[in-house]
Formats: sequence, C-alpha cells, structure tokens
Amino acid sequence: MDRALELAYLGLGNVSPNPMVGCVIVKDGKIIGEGWHQQHGGPHAEANAVNSVVDQDKIKGSEVYVTLEPCSHHGNTPPCSDLLIRLGVRHVYVSNLDINPLVYGKGIQKMRSASIQVSVGINEEEGSNLNKRFFTYYSKKRPYIILKWAQTIDRFIARKNFDSKWISNEFSRQVVHKWRAEEDSIMVGANTALYDNPKLNIRDWPCNAEQPVRIVVDPNLKVPADFFLFDGTQPTIVYNYNKSGNENNLTWLKLKRRNFIEDILSDLYKKKIQSVLIEGGSHLINSFISKNLWDEARVFVSNSTFGEGIKAPDLYHASLINKNKIFEDEILFFKNVNG
Ligand SMILES: NC(=O)c1ccc[n+]([C@@H]2O[C@H](COP(=O)([O-])OP(=O)(O)OC[C@H]3O[C@@H](n4cnc5c(N)ncnc54)[C@H](OP(=O)(O)O)[C@@H]3O)[C@@H](O)[C@H]2O)c1
Repeated sequence: MDRALELAYLGLGNVSPNPMVGCVIVKDGKIIGEGWHQQHGGPHAEANAVNSVVDQDKIKGSEVYVTLEPCSHHGNTPPCSDLLIRLGVRHVYVSNLDINPLVYGKGIQKMRSASIQVSVGINEEEGSNLNKRFFTYYSKKRPYIILKWAQTIDRFIARKNFDSKWISNEFSRQVVHKWRAEEDSIMVGANTALYDNPKLNIRDWPCNAEQPVRIVVDPNLKVPADFFLFDGTQPTIVYNYNKSGNENNLTWLKLKRRNFIEDILSDLYKKKIQSVLIEGGSHLINSFISKNLWDEARVFVSNSTFGEGIKAPDLYHASLINKNKIFEDEILFFKNVNG
C-alpha cells in the first residue's frame, strides 16, 4: 500500500475533481502491475495497473492494493469493481472508502458479493491525507483551504506603504509556483491585487497542470480593469457587492455583505473547486481564521525586519506539523486542529 500511495501522489495537480488513486497488483509475493490515475477523465488507477501487467493470465488469483474504494458506477470509464471481478482477483486491500455518494461502499459490496475478499482501512490515515482536498470538499461542502504568506522575522507581511518586495528569496517564491500547480484555485484580497498587480499563474514550475482559477475578493471593485488579473488568460472570479456578469474568462459575482466569506465558499463548492490557496493579504487571511475556515497554513519567515507595516495574520488552533529551510528562509507548516 505504501507503493500504491506513492504512485497516487503522481496525479497531484492533474486529476481534480477526481481523487488521486494508486494501485499495485501482487502475485506470489511479487509486484506484477502498477498504475495511478494520471489525468482527470482518463483511465482509473486499477485499469492502468491491469494494463501494465505483461502476462494478463497472472491477474487471476492476485492481490490488489488500491488507495481508494474501486468505483461501482459508469462515469467517464466503466466501473473498476466490475473489472476486478471479471479478472478474478483474490483479495482487494483498500485504504479509504470513496466518500462520493455515487460510490460510497457500493464498490466494496459488489466485490464481496462476487466472493472477492476485501480488507478496508489499510494505511487509512495516509489515504485520508492523500485525498484531503477531495474528502474535505465532500464532507464540509467547501474547498480545502490553504493559507500562505511570507513574513519578516518581526512579523510583518508588507511595509507601511504596502510594499512587500521581497520578503522571501527566489527559491521560496518558486516553491509557491509548485504549490499553485497543486491546487484548483488561488485567492487574494483587493489590496493585494491593487498594490502587487499579481498574475497568480504557474510560470516558474515545469508541469502539465492546468492554470488555477484566480479568485479576487474585491467587494467595491476597486482593482483597475487593465490589471493582470483581468487579462483573460485564466478563468478569474471576482466576488463583490456590486455586479454579476461574465466576459472574456472573467466572472463577477455579486454577494451580500452578510456571510460574504461563507457565500464565496458555497459558490466555489457549487463550481466543483476542491481547493484554494489563499495568498494574502492579512485582512483576507484573518477573516478566514476568525471564522475558523482554514485547513493548513504555510508561512515563510525571512531574516529581514521591517520594524513597522502590515502585521502578519494571527493563527489560532494551529499545530506546527513540519518545518523546512530554503537557504535563509524558514517554512513553517501548520494544521488546524479545531477544524
Ligand atoms: N508577504 C506576503 O506574503 C503578502 C501576501 C499578500 C499580500 N501582501 C501585501 O499585503 C498588503 C495587502 O494586505 P491587506 O491585509 O491590506 O489586504 P488584502 O487582504 O489583500 O485586501 C483587503 C481588502 O480586501 C477586501 N476584503 C478582504 N477580506 C474581506 C472580507 N472578509 N470581506 C469583505 N472584503 C474583504 C476588502 O476590500 P475593500 O477595501 O474594498 O473593503 C479589504 O480592504 C499589500 O501590501 C501586499 O503587498 C503580502
């Protein structure tokens, strides 16, 4: 199952809104086939693993390790539980049930009815972590929320004049492009859009991932129309208090002041966006923290000091789960323990 999990992660950034899945086929103690779900709409991990087996006769009587319950419904591809039944596998080991109501428990039931032994809950925690976006989306009916910012050692994210160049080093900034490639969407507040004129695209990390959806929280529509965010090169949503409409890859959505943040998340849920990387500024990030609407925070801390300026967000219910160093920058990884 460790190998199946490792394979599953290769789909990160390419399979949403599907889950990442890895699959390993074992016969007589040896791996005879392996595969993973590589692309949204493409074959599932089980089908790829089956197709990788050189001698197809060997699949009969084999053991299959798959990180998520094999599907039981006809989507873009035929049901994987039917495939495993037809090939006569002996035992299927599964990390997690598929939380998607179309599948939940049905794939397992189908295989057991066909006399296949099925064991569920193998490396369950690792499996839940692998598909944290997918599971959060279905269980909380909102995207998985990752907060990200860079702060000076004296805890500022920008100078008093809103200049934030460059708190973190160029390699830290490159890591952010990798992270952008892993999420469905990137969100910023109106001031960040206004003072930084960001592009919010993936340009400094080689990958096949689609560009993320850009989200701007600009209630009073103060960001000028000729800014990069509105260049039409990427789907972009502007949540605001004033207007709704669509034009050139841009969507404006008017929402009420009351429950603005909650309504943004409900709309993202409706749009099947399973994850959002919130890149600042402090005002926006603090509004998610104060509503306890976040799952992870990733904080770059540089050696520089500003003395005064815009204060870094304050985290509550946060547990430090990891630390990393990129030259002189430190990256702190927090998890919400009360989410
Ligand atoms: N170091 C870093 O990692 C980092 C990251 C991003 C930005 N920055 C810097 O941070 C500065 C901007 O930060 P900031 O905290 O001032 O601004 P911000 O969070 O980017 O934007 C704040 C504005 O967005 C709107 N907004 C945010 N949350 C809202 C909510 N819950 N409900 C309604 N409207 C909401 C409001 O617009 P209205 O004013 O129209 O009401 C608010 O004034 C810039 O200087 C930027 O360079 C640094």
